[in-house]
Amino acid sequence: MTGSRKNTLSGKSVLRLLDLTPEELQLVLETAQTQKAEWSLGIHDTPLSGAAIAIIMEKPSMRTRASFEVGAARLGAHPVVMSDSRSAFSRGETVQDTTLVLERFVDAIVIRTFEQQKVEEIAEWASIPVVNALTDMFHPCQGLADLLTIKEHKGDLAGLTLAYVGDGNNMAHTYLEGGALSGMRVRIATPADFACDEFVIEECEEVAALTGATIQVGTDPIWAVTDADVVITDTWTSMGDEEEHDMRVQAFQGFCVDAALMAHAKEDAVFLHCLPAHRGEEVTDEVMDGEQSLIYDEAENRLHAQKALLYLLMTKA
Ligand code: CP
Repeated sequence: MTGSRKNTLSGKSVLRLLDLTPEELQLVLETAQTQKAEWSLGIHDTPLSGAAIAIIMEKPSMRTRASFEVGAARLGAHPVVMSDSRSAFSRGETVQDTTLVLERFVDAIVIRTFEQQKVEEIAEWASIPVVNALTDMFHPCQGLADLLTIKEHKGDLAGLTLAYVGDGNNMAHTYLEGGALSGMRVRIATPADFACDEFVIEECEEVAALTGATIQVGTDPIWAVTDADVVITDTWTSMGDEEEHDMRVQAFQGFCVDAALMAHAKEDAVFLHCLPAHRGEEVTDEVMDGEQSLIYDEAENRLHAQKALLYLLMTKA
């Protein structure tokens, strides 16, 4: 199921996209494309039969939880979903104790939480793969689904221009990483006070020097979108920032992706949004529901990208 590429991901954890090499990123995307095609042909292999996967949600989720739960089941694994705040990694127990007990029951841990440091600590203790299902810093599984969607519609990722307009949040960081790994031209436009973290930009510039990618950050949405192949935005108010909502709506004026902004991109440009969207804030209905929008394909690809990732992490090389 991995084609001509060797599975170098067996047993690894993925806490951010830069945990993958450029070749490993392509391996995940190619495996997802193969598995997706096979599933549609009625080939329903269960390579993880007998395994169990903990799916821990410390923040709200619809897409991530549903796609991981269904993906695990389709692979033949048993999903153990813990979304109650009193279940995993709570009640005062140390990360060490929870991780070392949990791994006696399951074969991989998928976790959505707040601090990146927490998923790193879990991965340090765990002898099984750990997958970041969103932290305040990164959302690698969404990034894989988005790159898969772009690849399906545009072919090779290298050389494509990906424009992101909005908050310098976990998705912006993830597009910097995914674009750097896959040789894309990445342009990020944020308000000056909501820029991406400098250390992420610097790390991505180092990767870009090896892959031929370019990384550019600025504050002008029109500059970012001009002649882009892919235009992306995300909520201006991420989980945890709700009290800042009104302030953010003011600060992000001019950053809404509307038809006028899309007109600066290539005629055949596609639009992505990881959802949930705040229609009328970061994006208009016209763009969300327009011909260039791939938002529902993108959401479906969470399932295919994560299935491929779990398969590669949880099967022997
Ligand atoms: N895009 C995304 O992660 O969606 P959920 O928050 O619904 O999981």
